[in-house]
Amino acid sequence: MKAIDALINRVSIPRVGSELPSDSELQIIFKAALRAPDHAQLRPWRFLTISGDNLLHLGELFVKAQLQDDATLSNVAQVKAKSKVLRAPLIVVAIASLKEHPKVPEIEQMLSAGAAVQSMLLAAYAQDIGAMWRTGSMSYHPVVRDGLGVSQGEKIVGYIYMGKGESKARVPTQLVVEDYVAEWPSA
Ligand SMILES: Cc1cc2nc3c(=O)[nH]c(=O)nc-3n(C[C@H](O)[C@H](O)[C@H](O)COP(=O)(O)O)c2cc1C
Repeated sequence: MKAIDALINRVSIPRVGSELPSDSELQIIFKAALRAPDHAQLRPWRFLTISGDNLLHLGELFVKAQLQDDATLSNVAQVKAKSKVLRAPLIVVAIASLKEHPKVPEIEQMLSAGAAVQSMLLAAYAQDIGAMWRTGSMSYHPVVRDGLGVSQGEKIVGYIYMGKGESKARVPTQLVVEDYVAEWPSA
């Protein structure tokens, strides 16, 4: 696939296929992430891969976090929280690993981590691997952060659900460029 095609047509796949990406496909995905623009080469990101039974452990962590907020959480809600992580054979946890730097504030490092995630999504799409960037309260909960070993200077920027097979990418609606781009100063 041409780079421009991927850039213009990438879409998220909410229901990804059940097959794991291969090691070589994952290498490409992470190599793409590691080429994100990065002011002062701080490498302000790291990634965790979660698959197989470990997905169930992640689901249990989500339930533990939600039970801490609401000890009366129903069994149905617990099962629902647990099963959410089984929507893909692989979840990549993208973490912004923020560094102290006199010229590179946190916002720039967060943007770099976000750019890394976008590059992962593009590299997945270009290899016919379904992917979707998700967050939600489980990205910010201290119980989940602890369980995943996320330290104080770090933030979970997303759970990237990935899988191949079955899933078919939709053709995205193209927005009108002129609605979002203007010459300055305007005429
Ligand atoms: C930081 C971030 C967090 C997101 N979290 C969620 C989420 O938790 N659940 C969800 O359905 N979509 C979430 N999205 C949006 C989807 O990843 C996706 O971009 C959106 O559904 C539009 O689909 P598209 O990427 O095919 O245009 C998030 C996007 C970003 C950038």
